[in-house]
Amino acid sequence: MNTVMQLMQSHSSVRSYTNREIEKSLLDSIVQSGQAASSSSFIQAYSVIRVTDGQNRESIAQAAGGQGWVIKAAEFLVICADMSRIQTCCEKSGVERLEGFAEHFIAATVDAALMAQNMMLAAESAGLGGVFIGGIRNAPEVVTECLQLPEQVYPVFGLCLGWPEDKMAVKPRFPVDVVLHQDVYQFAKVQDQVDEYDQQMADYYSSRQANTKNTNWSLQTASAVQGKKRQHMLAFLQAQGFLKR
Ligand SMILES: Cc1cc2nc3c(=O)[nH]c(=O)nc-3n(C[C@H](O)[C@H](O)[C@H](O)COP(=O)(O)O)c2cc1C
Repeated sequence: MNTVMQLMQSHSSVRSYTNREIEKSLLDSIVQSGQAASSSSFIQAYSVIRVTDGQNRESIAQAAGGQGWVIKAAEFLVICADMSRIQTCCEKSGVERLEGFAEHFIAATVDAALMAQNMMLAAESAGLGGVFIGGIRNAPEVVTECLQLPEQVYPVFGLCLGWPEDKMAVKPRFPVDVVLHQDVYQFAKVQDQVDEYDQQMADYYSSRQANTKNTNWSLQTASAVQGKKRQHMLAFLQAQGFLKR
């Protein structure tokens, strides 16, 4: 393993930070590193909102289900999928505005996620820690109003960054064979390995240094997807101009 792979594989989300600020030049480098990610057809369909207003941080933390680290983090960024510049470039080029296509929603969301993960890695390479905040989609209209997001822009998730005070142990991932298939999808093989992984995760959850739980990956995941259906999302996305066709 080289040092980049070592860094990647030592990731764990950080939710507890010291009071130290992040220098603006370092923040800019992190965002630039995010921008270096690949981009579908080079549309660069994302924007990042740096939230410094204390009241907005409070409102968004609340909207995300009371996640205190949104307030305490040195930086809180909202990563948006942004098709608004693409509308303008279509107008400028004298071609039809293309709004609401599912394909463009996917392209913008993937662009935003790749950019955000590059930011996370850049931040971690500088000794910072962070956590993504999908909880902002509990109340996306609150975030949209706080940040004055226009149509063709939607908040995908947040990113808290700060100097780590505390770091959890790395969470074991599936064995490579569960996610890497040879030639064809091998469903049966995967099930046995997921059963073994459940045991490994049960050990991890019961023995980690904080927030110990009596659960495993399957139980935890089933509960997470049941609890986070966010059925308001389709109507919200359509109101922002996405997913209409
Ligand atoms: C898109 C996305 C949204 C997330 N949302 C939250 C969140 O709202 N709150 C939180 O504490 N962690 C959140 N997480 C962090 C995950 O819980 C975490 O990545 C996962 O449990 C794996 O743990 P690790 O990052 O420490 O390896 C999110 C992660 C991703 C990728």
